[in-house]
Amino acid sequence: MLDINGKTVLVVGGTSGINRGVAERFAARGARVAVASRSGEKVADTVRALEALGCDAAGFTADVRDAGAIENGVAAIHDRFGALDVVVSGAAGNFPALAKDLSSNGFKAVMDIDLLGTFHVMKAVFPYLKKPGASVINISAPQAFIPMMAQIHVCAAKAGVDMITRTLALEWGGAGVRVNSVVPGPIDGTEGMARLAPTESVRKSVAESVPLGRFGTPGDIADACLFLASDLAGFITGAVIPVDGGWAQNNCGGMSDYLGSLVLRHSG
Ligand code: COA
Ligand code: NAP
Repeated sequence: MLDINGKTVLVVGGTSGINRGVAERFAARGARVAVASRSGEKVADTVRALEALGCDAAGFTADVRDAGAIENGVAAIHDRFGALDVVVSGAAGNFPALAKDLSSNGFKAVMDIDLLGTFHVMKAVFPYLKKPGASVINISAPQAFIPMMAQIHVCAAKAGVDMITRTLALEWGGAGVRVNSVVPGPIDGTEGMARLAPTESVRKSVAESVPLGRFGTPGDIADACLFLASDLAGFITGAVIPVDGGWAQNNCGGMSDYLGSLVLRHSG
């Protein structure tokens, strides 16, 4: 029932970090995989890596803030591969900034990428989803439900992403389309963690604050996505699923205090 051989998978923001790990895992399991992001170089590099895994791979360049570019890219993938069985939407931006120091445009940049971008992806893929049967997975973050200093933009945006998930579970259930969020904990070796835990001592304290005692890997998130994409998850929709070693149960350790102090040191 975990078989996704021959299925068509689109991973938006799939050209680095966690999402690329997801794309590679689906490719290794025999899916056709398409990826999309802003950088043509990153798209080309990822497509080559997926092909090296024996995958029939494709990609397109688009900024999720540009609804038309996303629509055109998704239509092109549909022309090539047919109906989409699985969509993983994970493009995001993050940087630490206290609210008092964050410009309107800085707040808007993250809202536009994470929240409006997710809406654009959802709108663009819906006509091309396999109905019934498709599985849509939004990549969220613990900031959606754990407030963190210096993350007001991310907290607001990712809370919105999870409400997109839950609302579309209602709207698309009748079409046989499931929509869920996966909430990664701290994932080692990623851009997101490099921005939030830049030093070895912070990395160590983050790992120690995870109840399971370690960072996650892109493979941990990929496994959850594989499950949600499979028939084993056939009755799961509208769920927001932490895949975080229990980190959120521990209030994400001292991450909020750390980010607050980090930014305060710089901005006074
Ligand atoms: N602190 C405060 N404000 C910041 C900032 C920081 N570290 N970095 C960017 N901003 C502000 C900018 O100053 C600008 O606001 P302004 O016009 O009032 O000066 C606004 O955010 C937009 O910045 P810009 O560089 O034009 O945005 P962009 O669209 O080129 O890039 C970002 C978007 C800022 C989110 C960029 O970091 C990005 O592309 N991130 C993708 C990768 C990533 O974040 N990965 C982790 C995922 S969890
Ligand atoms: P990452 O490596 O920076 O990946 C972000 C991806 O999104 C890249 O492929 C990037 O490619 C693309 N992207 C960024 N802005 C885009 C835009 N405007 N339009 C289209 N594509 C865009 O980040 P990551 O750390 O692996 O995080 C991946 C996801 O997991 C994010 O949703 C993040 O919020 C979530 N998450 C991460 C962690 C963590 O520990 N890292 C924890 C919790 C949640 P381009 O640069 O080519 O556009």
